[in-house]
Amino acid sequence: MAVILDGRVVSAALKEEMRRDVENMVASGLRPPHLVAILVGEDGGSMTYVGAKEKACHEVGFTGTVIRYPATVTEDELLAKVQEINENDQIDGLIVQLPLPAHINENKVTLAIAPEKDVDGFHDVNMGRLAKGSPGVKPATPYGITLMLKHYGVETSGKHVVIIGRSNIVGRPMSILLSNPGETGNATVTVCHSRTHNLTEFTRNADIIVAALGKPGFLTGDMVKDGVVVVDVGTTRVDDASKKAGWRLCGDVDFATVEPKASAITPVPGGVGPMTIAGLLVNTLQARKAQLAARTA
Ligand code: GUN
Repeated sequence: MAVILDGRVVSAALKEEMRRDVENMVASGLRPPHLVAILVGEDGGSMTYVGAKEKACHEVGFTGTVIRYPATVTEDELLAKVQEINENDQIDGLIVQLPLPAHINENKVTLAIAPEKDVDGFHDVNMGRLAKGSPGVKPATPYGITLMLKHYGVETSGKHVVIIGRSNIVGRPMSILLSNPGETGNATVTVCHSRTHNLTEFTRNADIIVAALGKPGFLTGDMVKDGVVVVDVGTTRVDDASKKAGWRLCGDVDFATVEPKASAITPVPGGVGPMTIAGLLVNTLQARKAQLAARTA
């Protein structure tokens, strides 16, 4: 039976550590970290995620602000707000929840965020620093996954990791983090994607699989070897009349057939999701500390 890699347990432990840290910060007369989230439109998933991020900020003693815009907001208005936040030294972290409406260029908005406030780690500067192994903000979801692997003592050094999916948010940065030198790194990483031939040949040889392609139940038991560690990043909403909301979250892994063969596996929900938020909070606290360090330098 597989060990369940429980993101709720790990994020609770990390949040408790951060809460104490912030308590000490405030006790010594300093303001707590401040995270701002910009939410455009009324996409159900985005509203849920931003709500969860706001709640998590309050749990650890951060200031969490959500700025809401209708879907009709112009790109210029959004860019002006990002600029204003960049210049506000009372704000440490800024995330613009994606996706944005089609008339707004997501890349342009992402690149407008000051790299030191980009606590999602999406900015080209932070991706570049990640690729070179230099200090920078790490992308929240892949970083959260490494924090979880560390918590459970999952060895990555020398292991063969297969990542399914090459997105800029998860697959690509995950492949860099796991192959970089250091703790929860030093892995041999294969990035598979929609054009990969004979995917199963790769997944059956993997010690660790990160499934991040956004296809519910894609990875099945016949595709993995005994003892594999499986990280499921999928969060697709699928219709489910038995649920009050009319849907449930479904991962990219067919848990019923993969779990019996795995040595460890993340559930959906309650696996990677809480770790994305934990990664975001850790990044925001680090941004606040970097600001304080720069002030006293
Ligand atoms: N949309 C889906 N995931 C994310 C995320 O981690 N951050 C932001 N800003 N938008 C997202």
